[in-house]
Amino acid sequence: MGTEIDTILKKYNAGRREDLIPLLQEIQDDNGHLSEEVIVKVGSFVGLSTTKIYGLATFYDQFKFFPAGKIRIRICNGTSCFLNGSLAVINKIREETGLNAGQTSRDGKLSYEIVTCMGGCNNGPVISVNDEYHPFVKPDQIPELIKKLRFFIDND
Ligand code: FES
Repeated sequence: MGTEIDTILKKYNAGRREDLIPLLQEIQDDNGHLSEEVIVKVGSFVGLSTTKIYGLATFYDQFKFFPAGKIRIRICNGTSCFLNGSLAVINKIREETGLNAGQTSRDGKLSYEIVTCMGGCNNGPVISVNDEYHPFVKPDQIPELIKKLRFFIDND
């Protein structure tokens, strides 16, 4: 980290709070997640406390504060998937993994994120496990899926 963040920051003017979200998005696109160091740096750049930034950023589902796990579950909560029941699937994933969206398990092996569209809107709710897509997911499929993933993780 360092040069890339500084390069991105140079494109913005310091002290403009309205730039916070695009700035965080750009840094995350480049780095995959927002480390604590980044939050502190961006905080002093835009003039907001780190607490305030975490508060604002967690409001947007797309921000991740840890590197993705070895197994990365992504669930779509875009309009179509939402209308097809993605929220119940999200709640089940949270319940089964003990993780909130954007978090990675302590051992760094499992993470889950909420995304806004995966391009499979007619097949929702859609989830992906690494690069494998699962359409029409129902909440009651989640425990079995997580069990299989845990088995894979434990025996890897
Ligand atoms: S809204 Fe979920 S795949 Fe498009």
